[in-house]
Amino acid sequence: AERAKRDEAHALVVGSGIAGLLAALHAVDSGCRVTLVTKDVLDHANTRFAQGGIAGVMFDDDRIDDHVRDTVVAGAGLNDLDAVRVLAEEGPARIRELIDLGVAFDRGDDGGFVKGLEAAHSYPRILHAGGDATGTAIERALVARLRASDVEVVEHAFLVDLVVRSGRVAGAELLVDDREPLTLFADAVVLATGGAGELYAHSTNPAVATGDGIAAAVRAGAAVADLEFFQFHPTVLPAVADAPGIRGADAFLVSEAVRGEGALLVDERGRRFALDAHPDGELAPRDVVARAIAALMEAQDGRPALLDATVVGPASPEARAEFLAKRFPTIDRSVHERGLDWARAPIPVTPAAHYLMGGVVTDLEGRTTVPGLYAVGEVARTGVHGANRLASNSLLEGAVFGARAGDAIADDAASGAWPRSAASTAARPLAASAVVEAAPFTRRTLQHLMWEHAGLVRDEEGLRHAASVLSQWRAQPREARTERELEDENLLLVAQLLVAAALARRESVGAHFRSDDPSSCRTPQNRRVASALALEAA
Ligand code: SIN
Repeated sequence: AERAKRDEAHALVVGSGIAGLLAALHAVDSGCRVTLVTKDVLDHANTRFAQGGIAGVMFDDDRIDDHVRDTVVAGAGLNDLDAVRVLAEEGPARIRELIDLGVAFDRGDDGGFVKGLEAAHSYPRILHAGGDATGTAIERALVARLRASDVEVVEHAFLVDLVVRSGRVAGAELLVDDREPLTLFADAVVLATGGAGELYAHSTNPAVATGDGIAAAVRAGAAVADLEFFQFHPTVLPAVADAPGIRGADAFLVSEAVRGEGALLVDERGRRFALDAHPDGELAPRDVVARAIAALMEAQDGRPALLDATVVGPASPEARAEFLAKRFPTIDRSVHERGLDWARAPIPVTPAAHYLMGGVVTDLEGRTTVPGLYAVGEVARTGVHGANRLASNSLLEGAVFGARAGDAIADDAASGAWPRSAASTAARPLAASAVVEAAPFTRRTLQHLMWEHAGLVRDEEGLRHAASVLSQWRAQPREARTERELEDENLLLVAQLLVAAALARRESVGAHFRSDDPSSCRTPQNRRVASALALEAA
């Protein structure tokens, strides 16, 4: 009888990155009927753009406890320790599952996996595929498996809103091909909609990252948390101005793995500056390196920092060029498309918005505070990242918690119960304190407002200004019928919540830096986790 009940469970997964694809595959394996919808084509998710790799304890001389510790140190101690343990302990099994699904992580001449190092890892535990094309390899393998499974797929289906009935999520309203409304009912909806890089003027994310899942969850009454924690990646090739239509004109991620291979950051006079900010220099936690670059750029009248890869690999420029093209083929292509030659000269780099640590609050199985609604991957706030995500933990989080949610749905639907989740209170936008003169709303003006006042460096005055402009924009009557207009409304809502959270957290911690209180980065939770770690170490 239980099997029959399970067969009736219908799971609707929204989003097609690593978390959504694994949630769908696990849900179908555990007996659910599954529909997966995605707003673009199946493989156009943020996962595809992940370069550095996936972190996990895959080598005999690495330790789960060290991965836990590195994750918590990077997260400034604001992580949920139970979630971090699950991440580190179940990571290796999920990586092996990816290998079984056909992801060919790079191997060395001895047949073993090549070890990659990124910032703030105490061990080179990053696996990569295709050099710097890890996300593409994962996305391709999972999409192929999904296409061969019983999961029904609807592409070009935009999430307009969740359907809520008697306090429970019962499906989703969609807009297909930007014109056809479609309502799909389901026992469970899994949000796997990714992050919100489109909030910022400079971003490593594809344009689909518009916070749709967070906004829909908030409208359905779900708790969100940690939205003030937005990670900025230190090194992207800046967008090429005045080059419309040329390939590679957008800002382009230069993986931390390049610094992991030894590349150095220098100012325009060739002086190495990252060591001034942190003893780990180029491989200090991301927020530290990103702010050091931003400060340098300010001192250089906005001109970018330089990443010197001429010190990487073989000594001769020809052999180095070959090495870089093999180890980092994706970046190499992009560098050359801009007419740069990184084997022979340093290349310009700037920081850009990269990853949202906060999101929809979940328990360890992806359950949100609203019955019937799950969230996995970047849209979720599982607590694994704390105030700052450790490099290459994001693909891992998507895999571990995507699979966990997929596994939980059939049982949750069969039991009819909705276990209590680790709820916290939802952030609420602040009422505007003073009316300021605001430029008319466009996505571009929003992105510049957020970059300037809620970006790498924040203070009370700037955040209040942003809050005031955002509430004026939100109060203006606007039509939101097309996908683009609906995305704009989502971005505005998420921006308002982010700014409110950034105002409420007065101290600097992790990725959230308040120049009006730069020194304090210890909070009660920080101390709690720090002492838990000290106890474990004792
Ligand atoms: C990178 O390759 O630098 C990005 C890796 C990550 O964001 O974890």
